[in-house]
Amino acid sequence: MNTKLLILILLKVYNSSGGPYFYRESYKSDVIYQIVTDRFFDGNTQNNDPSESPHLYDPTKTEWKLYWGGDFAGIERKLMYLRDLGITALWISPPIDNTNVMVSYVGIPNGAYHGYWARDFQRPEEHFGTWAEFDSLVAAAHRVGMKIVLDWAPNHTSPADPLDPSFAEMGAIYNNGDYVADYVNDTHRWFHHNGGIEDWDDAYESQYLNIADLADFDHSNALVNDYMRESLLTWIKHGIDGIRVDAIKHMTRGWQTAMADQVNSLMPMFMFGEWYLQDFKNPLYTDAIRFSNESGISQLDFLLNRSLRDTFIFNHTFQELEDALRLTETDYAYEHNLVTFIDNHDMPRFLTENNQTSLLHLALAFLFTVRGTPCVYYGLEQYLHNDTSGGSDPWNRPMMKSFDTTTTAFRLIKILSALKQGHPALQFGQHQLISLDHEMYVYERTFGTSVVLVAINKSDKTHQLTELQTQLPKGVYDDQLYGLLKGYRIDVDSNRKISINLPPGSASIWSYIEQESAFPIIGSVAPVQFRSGNRVAIDGSGFGNRQGTVSFGHTPSLIETWSNNRVLVTVPNITAGHTDVTVTLSNGSKSNSYSVRVLSGPQIPVTFIYNNIPVNNDSHNRVYLSGNVFELGNWSSDPKVVQGPMFLSQNGTQWFFTVSLPASTNIQFKYFVINNNIITWEQGTNRTYTVPANGVGKVVVERFII
Ligand code: NOJ
Ligand code: NOJ
Ligand code: CA
Repeated sequence: MNTKLLILILLKVYNSSGGPYFYRESYKSDVIYQIVTDRFFDGNTQNNDPSESPHLYDPTKTEWKLYWGGDFAGIERKLMYLRDLGITALWISPPIDNTNVMVSYVGIPNGAYHGYWARDFQRPEEHFGTWAEFDSLVAAAHRVGMKIVLDWAPNHTSPADPLDPSFAEMGAIYNNGDYVADYVNDTHRWFHHNGGIEDWDDAYESQYLNIADLADFDHSNALVNDYMRESLLTWIKHGIDGIRVDAIKHMTRGWQTAMADQVNSLMPMFMFGEWYLQDFKNPLYTDAIRFSNESGISQLDFLLNRSLRDTFIFNHTFQELEDALRLTETDYAYEHNLVTFIDNHDMPRFLTENNQTSLLHLALAFLFTVRGTPCVYYGLEQYLHNDTSGGSDPWNRPMMKSFDTTTTAFRLIKILSALKQGHPALQFGQHQLISLDHEMYVYERTFGTSVVLVAINKSDKTHQLTELQTQLPKGVYDDQLYGLLKGYRIDVDSNRKISINLPPGSASIWSYIEQESAFPIIGSVAPVQFRSGNRVAIDGSGFGNRQGTVSFGHTPSLIETWSNNRVLVTVPNITAGHTDVTVTLSNGSKSNSYSVRVLSGPQIPVTFIYNNIPVNNDSHNRVYLSGNVFELGNWSSDPKVVQGPMFLSQNGTQWFFTVSLPASTNIQFKYFVINNNIITWEQGTNRTYTVPANGVGKVVVERFII
């Protein structure tokens, strides 16, 4: 059967009553748990040393870069533990078939136990289990209301050393068992052959060169694009509920935008990517922000992670944390979609850096009460850490040791998760600073009249605060953590003022939830980028139980389901562009507007190439593509809106850039150059191009002389 048809049928089955309909669109009320599958739990010893890829398993668990036995069946066995912890979504390390052969770096044996060295994107890795075991995990997770997030690493395959063709599998790629190509035998140019990245802050190098020696895909190749689309279909058919995209910084925004559109038009689900950012001064900061705002793929919040670690581990001032929240709120269009975390598989665990569990607890209280979807790295709740050589990769990936449900961290996460799931202010609320100094931080989040007030004191002294203004109505409020972190009860007076003595090393959370909202408020539209005909979810409060209207601009949409805090709609036929979504009740009461991006149609990645660039091309030139569709900025000359800057080829004679464009559409375009704020448009009449109906597009322009 045609796969597209199959997906349509699947969508129908999933969405009709009784089917396992899963709300995948937004994760604003979710708590994610990140698992390195190999290191979690061994649920099936039969797959530990599979014949297809033997000798990569170390039963003694002393070779940190070999497989240790964890698998899909093991995760399934521990689902009740995870549910008890309050987890609603599991991000599992890449489950895709990995390289079969050991690589040796400086004599240390390496297997792809982590999952990031793919071999066959159409199959699961045999160390982790069969399709049946994967399906069983997904079904079991769905039965307890838990989502499965696919870690998707389409940037590369595995280590390849062109100088040593005997090196492991040379990045070989297979299609459902059939050999396709490798880094040496690459007749159809599946891979880039530009060497390894040296300047990680250079956009061109980052995207077109290899991460270390990992064979880097050329996604502008139709074969690669088709292969990846097929693979995504396969994993969607196997029931995944979200996608964590590996190394988004290393692939073009154009290709990834088209990929996200594919997902959102088949089975809308939350996607977030990994763009490692060390600080706000990173040269690619604006690229990272633009990626997040315009690709349809949100991000892991590395900037907040950094400030969180600085503040709670290294005792920087809380001001740094507040600044990070403010800056990200300004620059990210959808900061509530960021995925926040304390540690992960690529950095030392919190307790390795500072072995004070009391500080880790305070960090958790912070993580779960600020904007974004918190993600807990496996074992954090068991204080898991191994401090060998500073505790970073691979020592931050120890085997899960215990499944104790009585640790303070476990109980804390459980309480925080329940709060997050039940509180609109924690899901959609605006952040408001109440008071801070180096060691004490009081903030509030509000949505409508719902309020959460949080007070953290990380010092060993009591902090006395008087006459603080809050949005909490007059009354007495109990600590929502039941005193677990030394929080206590407060009294709010009729002027909404409080005076508090924050105990040393404490966190308190006070909450007010509006019972019945008098008017509609939108807290979330998801996805945030889509096209006419797609399904979109609107979350918030006060929508009432009688069906009203949801408009995109002025155009009403078809309502699929309506409830007091969630409405599902089909996007009407409207002009592409930034569009305001509003909810209007049957009594005429109208909500706030929520701005989203509507694309012009099904997206195709198109690579533009201008040849014969003069070799004396001024290095201050920034070249952009503009054109007559939203995706090309509707003829804007604002570099923030058009596409680019285009890359200059290594030999300096070619400009190129990949853009996501509407399929089967005749477009007009031109480049323009900005040099010292002077804009020079390409001369002559507008160029035209018809974007293909499927596959990839390529436009080659033999440039004339200016
Ligand atoms: C980032 C992943 O998180 C990391 O663990 C991996 O090695 C690289 N991307 C390459 O896939
Ligand atoms: C924008 C558009 O009017 C387009 O048609 C024209 O080619 C460029 N500006 C350059 O003048
Ligand atoms: Ca790449």
